[in-house]
Amino acid sequence: METIFTDHIRFDQDAWQLVLLDQRKLPTREEYMTCSTLNQAIFAIQSMVVRGAPAIGVTAAFAGALAAREARLQNEDDQQFRNTLLLLLDQLSHARPTAVNLAWAVGRLKRVLDAHPDQTPKQIEALFLAEAQGLQAEDVRICQAIGAYGGALLNDGDCVLTHCNAGALATAGYGTALGVIRGAIAQGKKISVIADETRPFLQGARLTCWELARDQIPVTLACDNACALLMQKGRVQSVVVGADRIAANGDTANKIGTFGCALLAKHFAIPFYVAAPLSTIDLSLADGSAIPIEERPAEEVTHVFGQQITLDKMPVYNFAFDVTEASLITAIITEVGVLRPPYTSSIAWAHTVFPKHS
Ligand code: MRU
Repeated sequence: METIFTDHIRFDQDAWQLVLLDQRKLPTREEYMTCSTLNQAIFAIQSMVVRGAPAIGVTAAFAGALAAREARLQNEDDQQFRNTLLLLLDQLSHARPTAVNLAWAVGRLKRVLDAHPDQTPKQIEALFLAEAQGLQAEDVRICQAIGAYGGALLNDGDCVLTHCNAGALATAGYGTALGVIRGAIAQGKKISVIADETRPFLQGARLTCWELARDQIPVTLACDNACALLMQKGRVQSVVVGADRIAANGDTANKIGTFGCALLAKHFAIPFYVAAPLSTIDLSLADGSAIPIEERPAEEVTHVFGQQITLDKMPVYNFAFDVTEASLITAIITEVGVLRPPYTSSIAWAHTVFPKHS
């Protein structure tokens, strides 16, 4: 049960193109979108062709290689090349606001640029590609480590509720929350999953169900608003979700609806786990109140598969994420181990002991 599909984010070096599995079309169609320019890659991130915090980070790193080539073709002078490239990287880092992995990946590219002041534009281009490939391979290893640590927290026979898609599709492969489920199964445990449908983009119904069914992991789809009933009926033994940004105190931004699941889990004394790499932790934010919450187009709520379901011009709230208070989180599962409350100290400890992972 060790599925590590990495085909959903691929860089064709000969054509210098980024090829992405179009997640908007799943599960009915497996189509790929090709990005030859930075703008196309930014569009792919913004329109959710690729989504999920670590996957956005990996995509951004490859998009940086596209940006480097664009900057080289626009400028003959090396300094102008660097100035243009920095401007393009800034544009890229603002493609979506909530997942910190985007700015984190762009930050890695900027450090590569800084560390090589004498390299030619062509060499920088190659260094950016190598950094992106390294980041992609590293993300798979990180998810497997999260899976091993998290898998140990689940019991044989557990049914795990998850919200959104924090699987292979949302990372470079294997997944964070779904990595924990894969990890438990690899440890010989029988695990089943309840996938919240995750309105309005339906990442649970379309993506989590697709990738778990592909791996023959038992999954049952439920409406988001069935969560309380399913917990009341004893159908859920633990909740495992991913994260887009975690503040220094453990407050966690994830897909809208996650906070409600956590409140319900607390009510029913069900463990609530967040699975995320250390790169998702934003130490610059003391708590979750400053995490930027993306608001997406109203049409995602007013329309379902192109069909309008409400009145014309209906005002809409379409916040894409919410923040779960640290006090509701049983543990944060990372690639360096399971962090427990109080998170201010366990998170600080992880970053001190494993600075290279941050
Ligand atoms: O809007 P999305 O689909 O990018 O939101 C994704 C999530 O909320 C995921 O749970 C999170 O990014 C973790 S992915 C490993």
